[in-house]
Amino acid sequence: MIPKAELHCHLEGSIPPSLARELAQRNGLELPAGLIGADGSYVLRDFLSFLAAYDRVCKTLRTARDFGDIFYSYLAGAAREGAVYVEMFCSPERPAALGIAYGAWLDALEQAIDRARADFGIEGRIIVVCIRHLGPERALALVQTMVAEPHHYVVGFGMGGDEAKFVPADFAPAFRLAHDKGYGCTVHAGEVVGPESVWAAIRDLPVTRIGHGVRAADDPKLVDELARRGTVLEVCPGSNIALGLYPDRNAHPLHRLIGAGVRVTLNSDDPPFFHTTLGTEYDLAGLGERELRGIARTAVEASFADETTKQRLLREIEP
Ligand code: ADE
Ligand code: ZN
Repeated sequence: MIPKAELHCHLEGSIPPSLARELAQRNGLELPAGLIGADGSYVLRDFLSFLAAYDRVCKTLRTARDFGDIFYSYLAGAAREGAVYVEMFCSPERPAALGIAYGAWLDALEQAIDRARADFGIEGRIIVVCIRHLGPERALALVQTMVAEPHHYVVGFGMGGDEAKFVPADFAPAFRLAHDKGYGCTVHAGEVVGPESVWAAIRDLPVTRIGHGVRAADDPKLVDELARRGTVLEVCPGSNIALGLYPDRNAHPLHRLIGAGVRVTLNSDDPPFFHTTLGTEYDLAGLGERELRGIARTAVEASFADETTKQRLLREIEP
């Protein structure tokens, strides 16, 4: 099995329908209406209905333990597919809304990482993410909490949410603070909005990675700039196809970006929502073993883990 490393997966987006059912039941809650369709999958049509479905899944959660169980369960599945490392996007907004303290939430995530390492040998880290459509003030407040309460597994800061709301510059104070305190930074861009969103992200934010970024392929100058800078794209082909950005894998720009010298990684984003997994992304990428191993290496190199951990992981994935 080809060793893998993942840089772009959202914690609550990794909950399969079966786990959502289990969590709702455990918490004495009804499954949110309209969440799961007759075929047993999450119901979504496009990007905004996906964000709505994501919010509905979150309604099954109540306790810090819930968040830890989701992470452990994801790490277990990823390890079975050959993953040696997962950097998980974790938003403190959901636990905060449930009255769970930031530290208690992190404790649960830390236990998940430690248990998964002990049980499966996989390494996990946390990227704290803000939700773009909630606005820049919330983002800054969140980073202020992150830097005031540092945790050895929190290695980066990122932003997901509705890319059509606000512009990257609005979030510069939040990203600056995170960057100045030594956190790696990544931002979703070039997913639902075109190349201009990627230009703005690399111009206005201290990011070394872009979440998705695939729409950069529409602008040859931008592709050259990404290659020149060595900016790493967290590419999620299954997600892009499920959300209708491209009709199929043949139309997806993954190979064009690689051909142009852009550093890319393969990721699952919100796997059960998009009928994918990290292993599926590697299997269906249309790349040979050497290239896939190179992608795993890029993911480790571009990860925000400490240097010692990176060197250990790089040794682990060498053939
Ligand atoms: N939140 C969870 N998944 C996301 C995605 N693919 N784009 C933006 N925000 C997200
Ligand atoms: Zn994402």
